[in-house]
Amino acid sequence: MKRILLFWFLLLSTLLGKSQPCGFDLIQTDRHFYSTIEQNENVVKEWKQNNSLHLQSRSAIVIPVVFHIVWHEEEENITDQQIQSQIDILNRDYNLDNIELSSIADEYAEMAATINISFCIASKFDGTNIVKGISRKHIDRESIGAFNNLYVSDRGGDDAWDTQKYLNIWVCKLPSGLLGFATMPNSVEPYKDGIVMDYRNIGSIGTATENAPYHLGRTLTHEVGHYLNLLHPWGKQEGECEEDDLVEDTPAQAFANLGCNRNTDSCNSSDNHLNFMGYADDACMALFTEGQKARMIECLLALRPQLRSSENCSNCIHQPDLEYSKVSVFPNPAKTSFSVFIENELENDPLFQIELYDPLGKKIIEKQEIKTNSFHTFDFPQHIPSGIYFLLVKSKDVSIIKKITKT
Ligand code: ARG
Ligand code: ZN
Ligand code: CA
Repeated sequence: MKRILLFWFLLLSTLLGKSQPCGFDLIQTDRHFYSTIEQNENVVKEWKQNNSLHLQSRSAIVIPVVFHIVWHEEEENITDQQIQSQIDILNRDYNLDNIELSSIADEYAEMAATINISFCIASKFDGTNIVKGISRKHIDRESIGAFNNLYVSDRGGDDAWDTQKYLNIWVCKLPSGLLGFATMPNSVEPYKDGIVMDYRNIGSIGTATENAPYHLGRTLTHEVGHYLNLLHPWGKQEGECEEDDLVEDTPAQAFANLGCNRNTDSCNSSDNHLNFMGYADDACMALFTEGQKARMIECLLALRPQLRSSENCSNCIHQPDLEYSKVSVFPNPAKTSFSVFIENELENDPLFQIELYDPLGKKIIEKQEIKTNSFHTFDFPQHIPSGIYFLLVKSKDVSIIKKITKT
């Protein structure tokens, strides 16, 4: 009974705008929520005992993201550019590239961690074609609801891509101005694992422009934090200082700071009001801490281990090659043959695989066990037409797609 009351309390306080409209509080009232968190803590702990964590030396992690745009009115069908603006924001926020950092007080700037995770729009090979990770589905009904049908094509929604390998984000019109919500690891059945977002808070252009103060793409930065096992700084529920977010370097906090509240100290120390996991306005969020970083990386290693070794990205902007490996192809355009050079600065030398696809997605070249830091020359098969071809270069942790023009 207490739980049911709590549910209605949270539902009402959310909808009446006491706190920011958001679905996370609703999910937390789920019966299994606390036991899931506890189980996850144990899995991570055990993982850490068996594997020494090399946070610094690990290679870059790229998370492939699939957007499912489930729309009714034309304006809900947001553009590829708007989606890309969101990917860019994630890449800035998770790589210490966000502009706020230059203007905030030193004591906060010093806390800010480079998470060193990048995001790309996924792509996959479906047997015939390379499919881009932006799926669009028109619905007849005005709203599909955010709980069941949204995740199932046969019921009007859109099926996830393998939720262990891709971060799935469903974008739809959410009821009552909910901003979005995310599932923590192992908290739901796999077909709904991911993030649900209202179409008005994606990125910073298009429908987002009229949606201040949630117009700078920070809702997704925040939701990805939950998806990677972060809690709000005040812990599972607001109200007390003892219960926390299981992260050491975020100060204890009892209540959410809304808006751009700068000087609050709800637990005898200043709150980290700029934290991406709080409820500040988009423009006033700026950082994750080192402790939050460790928790997210541990989540990727121990709780969502297949996510970072996924196959394809169609557009790595923060290319993994920034700090990992660089792929060059030349000449390009090429006539009869081309060479590939995979530069690698890591001490260990991962083996790569190379595949070439024609514009219809048919594989025409494949070569395994390619060594880095040397040249590899390939001949185009005879009689193939000129045009654009796609070279897929992948290792255990990374995959890069390059376009090659055949003349
Ligand atoms: N309140 C929502 C949640 O906890 C999202 C908060 C996002 N905040 C923002 N300024 N965009 O999941
Ligand atoms: Zn939240
Ligand atoms: Ca803390």
